[in-house]
Amino acid sequence: MQAQFRFDVLVIGGGAAGLTLALNLADQAKVAIISKKNLTEGCTLYAQGGISAVLDPSDSIDNHINDTIKAGAGLCDPSAVRYAVERGQSLVEWLIDQGVNFTEETAVNGEQKFHLTREGGHGQRRVIHAADATGHAVETTLAAQVLAHPNITVFEQHIAVDLVTGRKLGHDSNACLGAYVLDREHGKVVTMAARFTVLATGGASKVYLYTTNPDTSTGDGIAMAWRAQCRIANMEFNQFHPTCLYHPNVKSFLITEAVRGEGGKLLLPDGTRFMDRFDPQAELAPRDIVARAIDHEMKRLGIPCVFLDISHQPASFITNHFPTIYQQCLKHGIDITREPIPVVPAAHYTCGGVVTNLQGETDIPHLYAIGETAFTGMHGANRMASNSLLECMVFALAASKDILRKKSDTALVTTLPAWDESRVTDSDEEVVVSHNWEELRRFMWDYVGIVRTNKRLERAKHRVDLLAREIEEYYGNFRVTNDLLELRNLVVVAGLIVESAMRRTESRGLHYTLDFPTPDGTLPAHNTILIPAFFQCASAATPATS
Ligand code: FAD
Ligand code: SIN
Repeated sequence: MQAQFRFDVLVIGGGAAGLTLALNLADQAKVAIISKKNLTEGCTLYAQGGISAVLDPSDSIDNHINDTIKAGAGLCDPSAVRYAVERGQSLVEWLIDQGVNFTEETAVNGEQKFHLTREGGHGQRRVIHAADATGHAVETTLAAQVLAHPNITVFEQHIAVDLVTGRKLGHDSNACLGAYVLDREHGKVVTMAARFTVLATGGASKVYLYTTNPDTSTGDGIAMAWRAQCRIANMEFNQFHPTCLYHPNVKSFLITEAVRGEGGKLLLPDGTRFMDRFDPQAELAPRDIVARAIDHEMKRLGIPCVFLDISHQPASFITNHFPTIYQQCLKHGIDITREPIPVVPAAHYTCGGVVTNLQGETDIPHLYAIGETAFTGMHGANRMASNSLLECMVFALAASKDILRKKSDTALVTTLPAWDESRVTDSDEEVVVSHNWEELRRFMWDYVGIVRTNKRLERAKHRVDLLAREIEEYYGNFRVTNDLLELRNLVVVAGLIVESAMRRTESRGLHYTLDFPTPDGTLPAHNTILIPAFFQCASAATPATS
């Protein structure tokens, strides 16, 4: 007999987005959060720089909006940007009420106030932070509240396999009714029925060989939504962070952009600066420009990395502002108070995702998407630094309000069919999964990375198609495991990225191709929207912005 669970709201993912949503629902609804590892494991835990918000009297909502839109290279949806930016201050106040300890400083008049740092694309200091471990402060504070709430049930080590939708059950409506979930410890798939299901599974940067992201970022929510017939937008805009630590023994350790915000300089091995050759904002240009410049210099000179130097600042300033980075680098023999840090770009953030409105609603009734999984239109062709946590939590709050408004009118369908395992066996060829993981992530890095060409995209497409067939066959024959589910999702996401990149015949923001090296001024700026049923691309015109 398979376990069946029932909740008002099923939240898939325990990052900033999922936790914020759950906490704002739980006084009035029975909520489940499932997390495929421990509750706190995900990108949020590792976020360093901070949360952008208009908090300084010299700043304004319009300044923040304009910087965001400029970084987004003509594709931001101004209504989504305004919606998030206008709610930045109240979000920060809510986080402080929950107990998040942001870094303070003493003002000239002796008053204590929050320290604001600066990052790429921001015209001024606007980023509130908890030293260089903002995500840790946010995630652990919210998780503690969630674990203490009597109306929230947390399922750790549970990975969602697929959504259960009306269409799959032969209903007239394609409403989402819950999800199938693999209990990793017991190796069993359970059914979770819910009035509302929320995808808060984070991004997909694990599709690339080198990434700043933890292992959880396999695009599960995007792939599940696609299989359930949701539209997916702008997957060609995968952001590469310019400065990931380059060290043979360290995987995925970010050096925050705030290091450059506090004066850090990018250097070639001979000690010369180079960013001023690429952009007047030099080290504080938007991320797409800095990452491309580093990639260009590495290829031009045949060097494995460049260097980021903050050692001109006093040692006490460095250890106070960047304690985590200082300790991590020191552990690996680099004293950042005295010497530059070797850095390389790495895949960091998925700007595209599941198409939603400003309440987080997707194309499927009763299915929401929030956080990095969602495409709200806020980031356009390039997300500005520290705008992600803002977006995650602002739209999580909006979705929670929408769900509470609709809750009493939405039925809970309790009779979902059990997961069918009658035609599968245990795999005797796990090597297929590990081999395909490696192959997929390597060709995505080589062919669909910072600089693209038509030929490279065609090569990638050919390989994605082959792998997709092989993995689907494997999925049909063997019992599901965590690694198989993630690989199945990664290959879907890789296909969506390649398809979107092939359809964009211009360079814009994070999508740069040698075959079309400039933006196409003959067309209105447009999003790439993939429609599942027919796999067609709709060019949704977006107002061009300066
Ligand atoms: P996540 O925090 O990634 O959480 C996703 C959750 O979903 C996890 O709990 C995961 O286990 C779960 N999950 C995934 N798939 C499944 C599944 N199938 N079943 C069950 N559970 C699942 N942004 C900023 O604004 N400011 C910063 O300073 C900043 N710094 C960053 C530093 C680093 C190193 C990284 C990697 C990112 C940074 N970002 C920053 C980006 C930001 O952290 C993320 O975009 C944001 O935290 C995403 O939150 P989320 O809730 O959408 O997803
Ligand atoms: C960083 O601290 O550099 C990351 C900030 C972000 O991704 O927004």
